[in-house]
Amino acid sequence: MLLEMKNIDKAFNGVPVLKGVQLEVERGEVHALLGENGAGQSTLMNVLTGVHPLDAGTVTFDGKNLAHISIKGSEDAGIAFVHQELNLFNDMTVWENIFLNKEIVNRFGRCDKRGMIAKCRELFERLDVSIDPEEMVEDLKTSEKQLLEISKALFFEAKLLILDEPTTALNNDEIDHLFQIIDNLKKTGTSFIFISHKMPEIFRISDRYTVLRNGEYIASGNIADITPEQITNLLVGNTMSFKDIYETRKTGDVILKLTDYSGPGFENINLEVKRGQIVGLTGLQGAGSSELMQCMFGVTRATHGTLEANGVHVPPHSTHRAMKAGIAMLASNRKENSVIPDMSLLENMYLAEHTLSAGKFAINKKEEQQKYENYRKMLNIKAQDSSDSILSLSGGNQQKVFLARWLNTNADILLLDNPTQGIDVGAKAEIYKLILKMAGEGRTILINTLEIPELQKIADYCAVFYEGKIVKILEHSELDDQTVMYYSTNAAGIA
Ligand SMILES: Nc1ncnc2c1ncn2[C@@H]1O[C@H](COP(=O)(O)OP(=O)(O)OP(=O)(O)O)[C@@H](O)[C@H]1O
Ligand SMILES: [Mg+2]
Repeated sequence: MLLEMKNIDKAFNGVPVLKGVQLEVERGEVHALLGENGAGQSTLMNVLTGVHPLDAGTVTFDGKNLAHISIKGSEDAGIAFVHQELNLFNDMTVWENIFLNKEIVNRFGRCDKRGMIAKCRELFERLDVSIDPEEMVEDLKTSEKQLLEISKALFFEAKLLILDEPTTALNNDEIDHLFQIIDNLKKTGTSFIFISHKMPEIFRISDRYTVLRNGEYIASGNIADITPEQITNLLVGNTMSFKDIYETRKTGDVILKLTDYSGPGFENINLEVKRGQIVGLTGLQGAGSSELMQCMFGVTRATHGTLEANGVHVPPHSTHRAMKAGIAMLASNRKENSVIPDMSLLENMYLAEHTLSAGKFAINKKEEQQKYENYRKMLNIKAQDSSDSILSLSGGNQQKVFLARWLNTNADILLLDNPTQGIDVGAKAEIYKLILKMAGEGRTILINTLEIPELQKIADYCAVFYEGKIVKILEHSELDDQTVMYYSTNAAGIA
């Protein structure tokens, strides 16, 4: 056994988060650590790696006692941790991020810059990652940043690699690539702890699993001996129905119209969307669907064509005018685009509404609290108090707050970019129901996602992007894995 954690207790401000948890990882295995949002997966890993001290329990790693270890000590013992949220320094280069605090010095005691860049190139070549070591991190795409984080962990050969939701910003090709790397390292005896809310991935890559619920150990076993349905039941603690929730509804006039719309990363988009419709956008990362949303919301500048919302022409590059025309958007990368770290979760939730109604109404604290309570119950947001810092929430629970932020505006048109990233199965089902309900009430929703099951649950139709263009519109009935992948990879263009 490589790692044995027993009877682990951990509380924050007197609130228990881990209660007598156990975890055992063998050499050369991929161990899935599973739980709902806030169940304690990240906290258990933070305790293992010395980010947070544990309150009680024992930790044995590779024959050594690691119960009261520092971050540095855990790295020295051979544990590498890829955190759930990106932890890179944007204003430094790629190689500087990799070698931070681990600089190579030459025989004159100076930093060996050339040597480090060369080592970095070697590593990327070995991993088949195409990132330039001398590029600034701020210029990388989100998926490249995630790959950089993983490469960074792989650089210093670790015995145990912890991957906390490593695929939230990766496309399917990049996920395949990562899994290939994991498989290769596994053969050399490296162990992995893999945290994810995506069932297909868990079943593809893991050998064994451990399930946590509410900070308690629930079960562990071989992945080969269990089904996704059984895992889900262990996670949520009761049986969940997997029935199809999609239903058609009455739609109205065209409320959103794109004509020959072009901008950074996409071109010549023509789309007419009716009031009450739910439209999926999909494609590989960088195919243009996320870029289109950002441009519609005025984050980037449209270069050609027009965007009309609610009968109003929306000028390029003005988020303010987009919002005034009734458009709201949930951005895809939570940490970089959504979190206001020094505000409470309630303030984070009401940010959009306050901006939209600036100065018009007095803020009604009681009403805000009431609405927050509704969302908290509906989405099962796990937090002690609405005045808590947003950063004290688990990743998935932060995402629920941002979703509530946008659902709570009165915008007619909602652009949701990868809205359920990091959200557990139970809450996902609630979110899908909520989106269908909102559409039923006449709101129009565009959802950009790589998850095909998500499209199947809610999209009336789906625009598939390839290299900046819509290559196919698929009707609801045509939405299955093979068909979506066929068009996303432009197999049709080659055939
Ligand atoms: N630094 C902190 N201060 C206060 N509470 C915290 C802190 N870190 C985590 N918590 C709380 O501990 C609980 C478990 O959080 P954790 O981050 O381990 O969740 P998780 O299982 O990783 O969930 P997710 O899948 O959403 O990331 C949550 O209720 C969270 O609010
Ligand atoms: Mg987590």
